[in-house]
Amino acid sequence: MSTKVAVVTGSNKGIGLAVVRALCKQFNGDVYVTSRDVGRGEEAVKTLNSEGLKPKFHQLDINDLNSIKNAAAYFKGKYGGVDILINNAGIAFKASDTTPFGVQAEVTLRTNFFATRDVLTHFLPLVKAGGHVVNVSSMLSASGLKQCSPELQQRFRSEDITEDELVALMQRFVDEAKKGEHKQGGWPDMSYAVSKIGVTVRLNTLSLDFYLTRLQNMLKKMSTVVSTVASQQEGPEFNSTFSLSVWSLHVPPVLAWVLPRWVLPRWVLPRYSGFLPQSKDMHFVGIG
Ligand SMILES: NC(=O)c1ccc[n+]([C@@H]2O[C@H](COP(=O)([O-])OP(=O)(O)OC[C@H]3O[C@@H](n4cnc5c(N)ncnc54)[C@H](OP(=O)(O)O)[C@@H]3O)[C@@H](O)[C@H]2O)c1
Repeated sequence: MSTKVAVVTGSNKGIGLAVVRALCKQFNGDVYVTSRDVGRGEEAVKTLNSEGLKPKFHQLDINDLNSIKNAAAYFKGKYGGVDILINNAGIAFKASDTTPFGVQAEVTLRTNFFATRDVLTHFLPLVKAGGHVVNVSSMLSASGLKQCSPELQQRFRSEDITEDELVALMQRFVDEAKKGEHKQGGWPDMSYAVSKIGVTVRLNTLSLDFYLTRLQNMLKKMSTVVSTVASQQEGPEFNSTFSLSVWSLHVPPVLAWVLPRWVLPRWVLPRYSGFLPQSKDMHFVGIG
């Protein structure tokens, strides 16, 4: 059986380092400290070695797309994917920091939301069946959400918010913050909280996307199987009637398009979405 592997972003110090320490003691597989700075990462590994623990190291700067792609290629090549991904890397300006609000908004969202999203984009396809993805959010996301306008709260709480819509909303916050118009736009005065709202909601869209993609793949497979059977059976007996092949070739693809986009998000998932984060194949967890 192949060696299991756990990857923790931003784990040269703080909560990330503590998570690596705990995983080294409890997880049956390789555990990776990742850090944007090789020196700081290797120091963290030495610290853990001095405690008798044996983590491994790989460089990963989540703000650098090449670094993300290199790391993803490394884990795919060496382990065939990842079993645990913990999106921990994050930044926060101190309350006393005098950097203009617009700059703080842009810098904070770049790392906490947009870069975390990039990691998910490149690592999610690598997460193995039964794997776990954890996004480290913050309780401030909940208090920040309460301070958003009712319209924004409605969108963030909705079951059918898509990744594209979320990205557009996060970008809107940055743009309005840079113009000093975020309060009129319905946003709180807290970039960190908004970034973590994005991290939390992205997890929900992730669960939804994950299920919709699976459903679409399933329906596509079904349509291929049915049309193959139909084309094998198509003989004179089928040609005279409204043929099975017409049904099999056209209806499943139409269903494959319509169900995930319209029927599920609007009528089914809002009622039965409780099961979403509990997939047997992959687990999505948000903490903080
Ligand atoms: N501490 C809290 O009370 C608290 C509460 C709720 C949630 N959180 C969340 O928990 C996570 C960890 O927080 P923490 O308190 O442990 O913070 P921390 O001690 O400041 O550690 C943050 C880690 O993220 C890394 N990092 C920052 N930008 C990065 C990038 N572009 N690429 C890769 N790594 C990067 C840092 O690396 P460098 O050393 O190179 O800067 C550091 O290793 C964050 O997501 C934070 O928002 C913290």
